[in-house]
Amino acid sequence: MCGIVGMVGDRDAVPVLIEGLKRLEYRGYDSAGLAVLHENDVALRRAVGRLSALESELAAHPLSGSIGIGHTRWATHGEASVRNCHPHAAAEGRLALVHNGIIENYQELKKDLTAKGILFSSDTDTEVLAATIADCQQDGADLLEALRCALSKARGAYALGLLSLDAPETLYAARLGSPLIVGKGSSGYFIASDVPAILPQVDEVIYLEDGEIARLTPAGVEIWNLAGEAQVLKWVKVEMEESAVDAGGFETFMLKEIHEQTRVLRGLMERYVMDGQIVLPELNMSVGHIRTLQRMMIVSCGTAYYAAMYGRLLIENYTSIAVETDLGSEFRYRSPKIQPGTLVATVSQSGETADTLASVQMAKGAGCPILTICNVFGSSLVRESDHLIYTHAGPEIGVASTKAFTAQLMCFVFLTLYLAEARGELTAETREELLAELQRIPTAIHRVLENKEHIRKIAEQHHDGPSSLYLGRRYNYPMALEGALKNKEISYQHAEGYAAGEMKHGPIALINESLPVICICTETEDEVAEKMISNVREVQARSGRIIAIATEGDTRLDDITEDIIFVPRICECMSPLVNVVALQLLAYYAAQARGTDIDKPRNLAKSVTVE
Ligand code: AGP
Repeated sequence: MCGIVGMVGDRDAVPVLIEGLKRLEYRGYDSAGLAVLHENDVALRRAVGRLSALESELAAHPLSGSIGIGHTRWATHGEASVRNCHPHAAAEGRLALVHNGIIENYQELKKDLTAKGILFSSDTDTEVLAATIADCQQDGADLLEALRCALSKARGAYALGLLSLDAPETLYAARLGSPLIVGKGSSGYFIASDVPAILPQVDEVIYLEDGEIARLTPAGVEIWNLAGEAQVLKWVKVEMEESAVDAGGFETFMLKEIHEQTRVLRGLMERYVMDGQIVLPELNMSVGHIRTLQRMMIVSCGTAYYAAMYGRLLIENYTSIAVETDLGSEFRYRSPKIQPGTLVATVSQSGETADTLASVQMAKGAGCPILTICNVFGSSLVRESDHLIYTHAGPEIGVASTKAFTAQLMCFVFLTLYLAEARGELTAETREELLAELQRIPTAIHRVLENKEHIRKIAEQHHDGPSSLYLGRRYNYPMALEGALKNKEISYQHAEGYAAGEMKHGPIALINESLPVICICTETEDEVAEKMISNVREVQARSGRIIAIATEGDTRLDDITEDIIFVPRICECMSPLVNVVALQLLAYYAAQARGTDIDKPRNLAKSVTVE
């Protein structure tokens, strides 16, 4: 959601900004722009649509300059139009601002400024912030003071980059609640929403803390807090490889990331399983604490919420801890009865999801310790947490989450085993069985990937209808939800995930000969397995187009459907890690057949940093 990049250096900033913006495309955007200090002017170029539109604008009206800021905008306040594009100018064009976040009191600020005769040309909160900075400067303040003054008036969240003719060698940056980093490299100093945006340019970065303001000049970086106190610079070496952020020969990032899952999960096991024991170095939770746990609440959004649902089933099955799950956007607006001491866990790829973050802040206020399962180091959720498990999936560029999700599922397996062991609720035999099963997962996923042509053919046969239904039970109910979400996100086909046992309570009315019904039937052993097959027969009886995911060697579906995706036999509680890969591929090939922009689906943002 909105991406920021900026540079002050010894070469032309424009190509660096454009490359940075391309690397931020995955976050989701509907317009883009940049500003550079050019021939004693703050020159803006802005365009609606893909970055190619901005490049055409630059080709028609070229710019150059060694100090600049760029922005990809995902519309919140005001439609996607050139006048609402960032950067926004103020002070008669002497300053330009890019911003990610929302200034909640912008209407109030705008009213005061309008009363002073200031005119606005956009509908955005960002232009109001730019004008507030300019207004603070009117009182004779230098730019740093004016920025601090404006930020003290603003309520809400921001990551921002600011340049001005009044400080021609300088780029200012600030963050509160939205991510921003400062980087240094051989050609200058940089700001960006994330490391991949400036990876080729930098060797070291600083993750700005909330309430910090940075000043970047060709001579170096200084950082202050909002009270004006200088801060120690905490440079961190960048470890990320360039290959982590290119498509590596795959036609899309999503397909690359689907294929990466075997490697990511193997890597996770190498990291967290040692000599048959689970070792979670960043969990930082004493055995004494774990033994006192009675309740746990897991809060997250989207795909990560389905990982939480899976985590709940596992933890409740193998420990005596009572677990609840909730969506961040619901949790924060209800009156959850969380006692101090309830472990509140979050799951998040980005670590920046606004509703999850707000829920954590609420839980902290209630005296709850926070555990976060997250993919991004230094992210906001990570900073708010007492206990951590990193998913180590590497940068996930495709908007639709794949490898981060299976890594979250595996981290829940580790967490469950760790908690159960510490509480004395796990027998050595069960631990060994589960660990042995876990070791089989990457190879099982590899087998699903080898079967992708078959999955593609099935997707191509069924992609054309207006809707589809996904059914699963117990551990595979959250996978039905995730399969449907993947399909919606990238193929734009309406899809609904349902607990198979709930079908009779409504969705069965939808079933006819044109509705694809994707049934996850990999359970083979207990009453859930039988019930699932009964549900499939109910779909069959109403002529639904059944696509089944089933265990290799299972013949129960032979007389029901020809469209079966067989997956290797894995115990039910870990089967979701394999089954979901088949669902990812099914969605992928349906999207391909429907001709959508798979890595950048319409209207979606990779990290949802505003409500
Ligand atoms: C996943 O495919 C989605 N794009 C989305 O639901 C995502 O999982 C959700 O926004 C949560 O993001 P997070 O994991 O970064 O918190």
